[in-house]
Amino acid sequence: MRVVAIDGPAGTGKSTVARAVAERLRLAHLDTGAMYRAVTWSVLDQGGAPEDEAAVLDALGSARFTFEDERALVDGRDITAAIRSPAVTAAVSSVSSHPKLRAELVARQRAWAQAHGGGVLEGRDIGSVVFPDAELKVFLTASPEVRAARRAAESGGPVAEVAADLARRDRADSSRAESPLQEAEGAVVLDTSDLASDEVVARVVALLDDLQGEPGELRPGDRGRARRGG
Ligand code: DC
Repeated sequence: MRVVAIDGPAGTGKSTVARAVAERLRLAHLDTGAMYRAVTWSVLDQGGAPEDEAAVLDALGSARFTFEDERALVDGRDITAAIRSPAVTAAVSSVSSHPKLRAELVARQRAWAQAHGGGVLEGRDIGSVVFPDAELKVFLTASPEVRAARRAAESGGPVAEVAADLARRDRADSSRAESPLQEAEGAVVLDTSDLASDEVVARVVALLDDLQGEPGELRPGDRGRARRGG
């Protein structure tokens, strides 16, 4: 089973890159952030509190969540756009901090990959927890300014507000006890600040080619060569 793990904080270009890499490799693509967002949407829809683990597990257990073809469905209802709302974005770090929810979603992510014969999975803990033995683990970074500008361009929100929200989520996602956002051991770190997404895609594909073609010459963890300008 061929698995590529793409992790990193918001605004580093994960989704664009993961989708394009999946297309190039003819693999399926899973945005695991969308899974945490869909559960968050459901909790809020049921009037539950994001901090309340029982309410979160109840929301997960009481509906059928499906993620296919870049769409998120809850009991057949298309919530692809709704999971990007400011309310969901504000609550998702809290929801995703609950260990039992994480355990269940990690199990579903592994099952998804099995069912699809592998895939390109993007998130925060794919290389560290979900697939530590992935063929390639990439950790995308970018400067806070670049990340905020990218997200603001997508959402149309004011840059200062978007920057504050990203900083708050970074803190929450990096400091949680369970599977915090961190570079996985053996991950190749790519700073995308000054790279267009097609350049990032080309580097990821080149890393995979190198891994297959010349064993020993480049290994995940050879961070120097993968860094910008390297
Ligand atoms: O990638 P995103 O911004 O849509 O992710 C939304 C939130 O979900 C993010 O703030 C942290 C959480 N998340 C996570 O904890 N683990 C993942 N594998 C993916 C996302």
